[in-house]
Amino acid sequence: MKSLKTKLAALLGLMILCASSAMAQDSETVFESSNTCKECHEDIYRNWRNSLHALAFSNPIFQTAYNKAYRETKGEARKYCLGCHAPTVRITGDYDAQLSITQEGVTCDFCHTVAKIDLTSTVNPFMSSPGEVKRSVLKQAESPHHKTEYSSDFASSKLCAGCHSFKNRHGVAVGDTYNEWKASEYAKEGIQCQDCHMQQIAGKTAIEGGRDKIHDHSLSHNLASMREAVKLRFIDPRNTGSRFSAQVEIHNAKAGHSIPTGTPERHLVLEVRTHDRSGGVIETQKKSYHKTIVNAQGAEIFSDGDVFLHGHQIVEDNRLLAGEKRLEKFVFSKRVGEISKVSADVYFLYEPQVASKTEMRIPFYSADVFIK
Ligand code: HEC
Ligand code: HEC
Ligand code: HEC
Ligand code: HEC
Ligand code: HEC
Repeated sequence: MKSLKTKLAALLGLMILCASSAMAQDSETVFESSNTCKECHEDIYRNWRNSLHALAFSNPIFQTAYNKAYRETKGEARKYCLGCHAPTVRITGDYDAQLSITQEGVTCDFCHTVAKIDLTSTVNPFMSSPGEVKRSVLKQAESPHHKTEYSSDFASSKLCAGCHSFKNRHGVAVGDTYNEWKASEYAKEGIQCQDCHMQQIAGKTAIEGGRDKIHDHSLSHNLASMREAVKLRFIDPRNTGSRFSAQVEIHNAKAGHSIPTGTPERHLVLEVRTHDRSGGVIETQKKSYHKTIVNAQGAEIFSDGDVFLHGHQIVEDNRLLAGEKRLEKFVFSKRVGEISKVSADVYFLYEPQVASKTEMRIPFYSADVFIK
């Protein structure tokens, strides 16, 4: 995965930072590994293990972007990227990722030892106090391993905000999920990130003495819920003059923020097709919803990693706001008579920058109308 050059750079950095690394080693005891939590919180562990939080540091998409950013900034990027992708470094100072806890990404003990949140802090919104006390939403929880404390912050979007809304050093909001949510009706109604992303599912909170429901820690993209997220509807498809036209209403029906949200590499694509009598496609038209970010020279940036470092300005943002319905008009070259069906699909298009070019398509919703 890592090139020789990066390995060397990392090694050099390591030699120079030997002293601080030894210091970091001492503070490993500060955070406990998820392997310890697993002994009692088996169901939650299994659930979290495959989440993007658990993989936030180790996944190859991040590693590829991180190695590039590391090289370009001669290591400066460590301080920046790891604060969210391996947040225990905020306390341990292990910016060379020598400790195993760093490799655990957004790990149990990072979240559950957050004592206070200060969203006005631009340095570190998380006031962590790693140690004996584990906090979350259970009242009267008793554990043989640690103390427990109820904290309403765990039922609030505030807990997610520190990582899910961020401006880069040029002041560009690379990802702004929290603020998109805050401006939405959902926030006004008190519906938090957790209400949609961490619903209760079957499972034991702890193997001994636990309750029978856990909050879903997998943050999975449940296909059934995704299909509901964006809805499509054809309005009055017909000939207008010499051509066939179709209006499609696209509706961000279920996401508590813009779609797509987060880093700008993700595009939402609406594809509308006309078909002939035998079902064959005559013509395809597409519309893409995304945020366009350019660098200082005005060139569009396509990769997530580059955007964090070089994003200078958002020049276009046509994403669908939470709850928004938008009408899109498509005009085709043929006429009814030649066209017997019009169909539409909406999907995520994601082309992460890994070693080989990959494309991921995640389908949402589709609609068909037969034309008489
Ligand atoms: C020896 C068993 C054991 C280990 C190890 C353990 N826990 Fe617990 N923990 C429990 C039990 C039992 C409860 C109470 C469950 C209940 O009441 O439903 C609990 C409760 C909790 C709570 C709920 C606190 C609240 O008041 O809402 C959190 C958070 C938590 N544990 C986190 C952790 C983390 C993080 C680790 C690893 C660093 C860990 N636990 C390790 C047994 C354990
Ligand atoms: C310490 C930082 C941090 C905190 C706190 C945090 N996240 Fe994340 N989250 C991340 C990172 C980093 C990723 C991306 C990991 C990757 O893909 O490399 C992520 C990924 C996700 C994803 C998956 C995104 C996708 O593209 O599939 C969801 C959903 C999510 N987080 C929701 C939440 C919610 C809800 C909360 C609050 C309860 C929360 N996160 C708290 C850092 C954090
Ligand atoms: C009303 C429900 C709802 C609320 C509230 C909500 N989300 Fe989402 N979120 C969704 C849906 C639906 C999707 C899209 C389907 C999917 O990707 O699973 C989504 C997608 C995401 C993604 C993945 C984006 C992608 O492009 O892959 C992230 C990250 C995320 N949400 C984070 C958050 C955070 C952080 C909050 C709180 C600030 C939040 N969400 C609040 C419903 C919600
Ligand atoms: C991104 C932060 C985050 C990470 C990482 C995380 N949790 Fe949680 N955890 C939460 C939140 C938030 C809640 C409460 C959710 C709610 O109220 O909707 C919670 C709830 C809990 C509870 C209370 C029981 C329940 O399910 O409600 C326990 C126990 C717990 N987590 C243990 C763990 C363990 C063990 C891990 C690692 C394997 C872990 N958590 C990883 C944020 C996190
Ligand atoms: C303030 C927190 C924060 C910082 C700082 C940050 N990231 Fe992220 N990053 C996230 C979150 C949250 C996500 C996933 C959800 C989303 O798209 O918003 C993410 C997603 C990514 C992804 C897409 C991963 C995937 O699995 O698809 C890459 C690549 C990435 N980040 C690289 C970087 C690099 C490289 C840096 C440093 C130059 C960096 N990030 C700095 C929070 C952060």
